Amino acid sequence: MSKKLFIGNWKSHKTVAQTHDFMWQFAKLVQEHPLPEAEIIICPSFTSLQQCSEFVRANNLPIEIGAQNISAFEAGAYTGEVNAQQVKEYATHVIIGHSERKRLLGETGEDIGKKVHQAHDSGLTVILCVQDENDTVVDGVKIIAYEPPSAIGSGVPDTPEHIAEVFEKLHEKYAGARLLYGGSVNEKDVKQFLAIPHLQGFLIGGASLEPQRLHELISLC
Ligand code: PGA
Repeated sequence: MSKKLFIGNWKSHKTVAQTHDFMWQFAKLVQEHPLPEAEIIICPSFTSLQQCSEFVRANNLPIEIGAQNISAFEAGAYTGEVNAQQVKEYATHVIIGHSERKRLLGETGEDIGKKVHQAHDSGLTVILCVQDENDTVVDGVKIIAYEPPSAIGSGVPDTPEHIAEVFEKLHEKYAGARLLYGGSVNEKDVKQFLAIPHLQGFLIGGASLEPQRLHELISLC
């Protein structure tokens, strides 16, 4: 059995100073109460990637760092974009295809395909978000996060029964990929998901912003 994966998606939260506070407190919690059964990935904003990565290295913490997005293009004249090679200096993973980017920023399936290729070419591991079992999954993706848009940030997660149905279909199609659930996962009711077949972890938004909440959530699993 591989370890469960816990990915904290901070979205557009935290300044560098707030990132430092979080990392400091979370490191202390992990040192006092280790989480050996968990694989933890923190995904901050681009502006905090360097700090998170250096903090983790300097303190030898069992945490990996991911970005929340990358450019669909390689290095070049693409104002405002951050490319996969730049992210790779600080991160091992990247979230691609989050439904907020599709809904609010018009990200298309074609964009997502290009980003996955950029990530793979640079050696980043892709965490691909899908809204259901029919979303396209580009070849070679190793981590798939099922995130029904209605469950994200709403406080109302999908039911374990429905997640199990979706996972069954995803597992049939993409047997090699690790399947995560995301959408209003919190420390109060995370346990209800643990018996879902094929579940290998969680993508956590709001509940990953506070070190105590994230640590408690992981401890319960
Ligand atoms: P949430 O976000 O846990 O705040 O619902 C999850 C996500 O969007 O990744």
